[in-house]
Amino acid sequence: MTSDQTTTSTADAATPTADAVAPTVGNADYRDSGLTFPDGFIFGSATASYQIEGAANEDGRGPSIWDTFSHTPGKIWNGDTGDVADDHYHRLESDLDLMKELGLEAYRFSIAWPRIQPTGTGPANEKGVDFYVRLVDGLLERGIRPIATLYHWDLPQALEDKGGWANRDTAYAFADYARIMGEALGDKIVTWTTLNEPWCSAYLGYGSGAHAPGRMDGADALAAVHHLNLAHGLAVSALKEVVTNNPDFSITLNLHVIRGEGETGPEAIRQIDGLANRVFLQPLLQGSYPEDVLADTADVTDWAFVLPGDLELIHQPLDLLGVNYYSTTLVRIWDGISPRANNDGHKDMGGSPWPGADRVEFLAQPGPYTEMGWNIEPAGLEELLVSLHDQYPALPLMVTENGAAFADTREVDVAADGTETFAVHDPERTDYLQRHFTAAHRAIARGVDLRGYQVWSLMDNFEWGYGYSKRFGIVYVDFDTFERTLKDSAKWYSQLIATRSIPAVN
Ligand code: FCB
Repeated sequence: MTSDQTTTSTADAATPTADAVAPTVGNADYRDSGLTFPDGFIFGSATASYQIEGAANEDGRGPSIWDTFSHTPGKIWNGDTGDVADDHYHRLESDLDLMKELGLEAYRFSIAWPRIQPTGTGPANEKGVDFYVRLVDGLLERGIRPIATLYHWDLPQALEDKGGWANRDTAYAFADYARIMGEALGDKIVTWTTLNEPWCSAYLGYGSGAHAPGRMDGADALAAVHHLNLAHGLAVSALKEVVTNNPDFSITLNLHVIRGEGETGPEAIRQIDGLANRVFLQPLLQGSYPEDVLADTADVTDWAFVLPGDLELIHQPLDLLGVNYYSTTLVRIWDGISPRANNDGHKDMGGSPWPGADRVEFLAQPGPYTEMGWNIEPAGLEELLVSLHDQYPALPLMVTENGAAFADTREVDVAADGTETFAVHDPERTDYLQRHFTAAHRAIARGVDLRGYQVWSLMDNFEWGYGYSKRFGIVYVDFDTFERTLKDSAKWYSQLIATRSIPAVN
């Protein structure tokens, strides 16, 4: 990969599609087509272990916090669990074939820590390791780059029983686990991502209670923020000691694109930007915590969990920053009189995901919306990528998640000769992806070093607190038979990958 990627115009498009039209650059609705992505830009798709694997009790896997949480009544829509999920664990080969059929250039998957160390510490469970060796070998045989995430939220329950991410020891346990995986796969993984969205792990897991382990304590949430940052740094160091193939080291953040309303907007933005974005970016990339965040949260915690030397451990050189983007956030300071809104797009379980920001109000935003109720705003992705590039010009970026849930239905299409095939017509998702790929392309055109784009998600799966009720896949999964059907959006994406050019939407 080079760091001097420049955007290409239709004039020098490598392989324009037959129906490529001149790009309408600057089109406010982001529905351009005919834009061509630079050579080396990596098109892929993403999943996460607990959301797709199933086989929760097989081959020595221990329980994770998501097993415990999903089996606790009232936590997940419809009482759904990840026990079986997409049954990917048993369908590995055919799922790999599906990725090949789509033409994916990369696959971003996560490794289930409790398959590797059933109680979070101790020797590796060889059967668990073997599953990921087979996955990675299967990807490489098919010419697909493996992008491995070490932690996408399935903490071994045994570690939660000792305090989870609020306990410093968990960061050291994570580094040991990273070393095991580095020894097993350290000649094959192209990109190592330590953590997926530590914002969710810390604030939804320990603050709001919407995610496992479902705790609701602001001080624990902030301790978790720090221990996750520390875990990242320790894991990068551990991996570097054992890998042999010069991979990229990265972390994936769900940075918030925050807009403010009214004259209190800027103050509300400052507070949420601090808790959502800067409390991760600044220690990771500059080796310090933002002073204003420490002050804002002084009544919640004294931050005594930050020990001398921690910030040096956290501040490891990064080769790539993973960016997950879905929608924007709108805030102002609550006037204390009007009914307070708290529509920050996550389930309300009683706790707050924003320790120290009690006076910030989250406002509903103009639509359109996805099935999650999240507003569709491709300009936010362009804005985020450009802003990151402005702040950290030397840091390559990758969109590691972007996609949309819609209420898909599978239909039977009858061809002229009477042949029947399953089909899923999902024009809203294709439109969402087209607009966000356009936003990414515009960011590249503005000089952003964007290395690739991983669509969330390869297939419908267990959407955390929403169970199986929200379908994010470009591949439809029938949750009774586990049959996979390519949605129209998957076919559109295949065409994009094959031509490297955004196809027109019919
Ligand atoms: C992200 C998660 C991913 C999926 C999408 C919709 O926050 O990383 O697992 O749930 O949201």
